[in-house]
Amino acid sequence: MRMVTIHDGADCKRFRVPSASDWGDLAAYVASTLKPGDILALSGPLGAGKTTFVQALAKALGATRVPRSPTFALIRSYPLHRRGPLKRLVHVDAYRIEHPSEILALDLDEELADGKTAVAIEWPENIKGWLKRKKTIRVDIKGA
Ligand SMILES: Nc1ncnc2c1ncn2[C@@H]1O[C@H](COP(=O)(O)OP(=O)(O)OP(=O)(O)O)[C@@H](O)[C@H]1O
Ligand SMILES: [Mg+2]
Repeated sequence: MRMVTIHDGADCKRFRVPSASDWGDLAAYVASTLKPGDILALSGPLGAGKTTFVQALAKALGATRVPRSPTFALIRSYPLHRRGPLKRLVHVDAYRIEHPSEILALDLDEELADGKTAVAIEWPENIKGWLKRKKTIRVDIKGA
């Protein structure tokens, strides 16, 4: 069981996710609100379900490939086949980032500016400098 709180500006919503296969409703909700340029900051301890959530989100957004856990790949890009402007979900796992310059090397600013990309970031705490001047949608997962 996980409790998830989503902070989007002044808006705050809570969801209960009973098991690993129950992220669909939350994913559908986030998918319905997600826009190009949005940054999802996914917080929660090791094994919280951050990757599981991104997988459900990608599915809800119409990704044809199911994302694998990017534990060894820092970044994965998922083309979305859907109506509307959002055409790509980029999944970043910042767990292994030790130096701020590593995030700059990912060209995320450029990707976010293309008018068709949203980004979901695991371990946003590791790239605080890059996130500092940016508006994020915070997804906090508790209960692991
Ligand atoms: N709602 C849930 N209730 C119970 N177990 C869950 C839930 N969601 C995911 N899990 C389980 O938690 C485990 C860890 O999930 P996941 O890899 O998504 O976590 P993570 O937050 O990405 O971890 P890491 O910090 O290592 O990247 C998996 O075994 C998954 O099945
Ligand atoms: Mg993970």
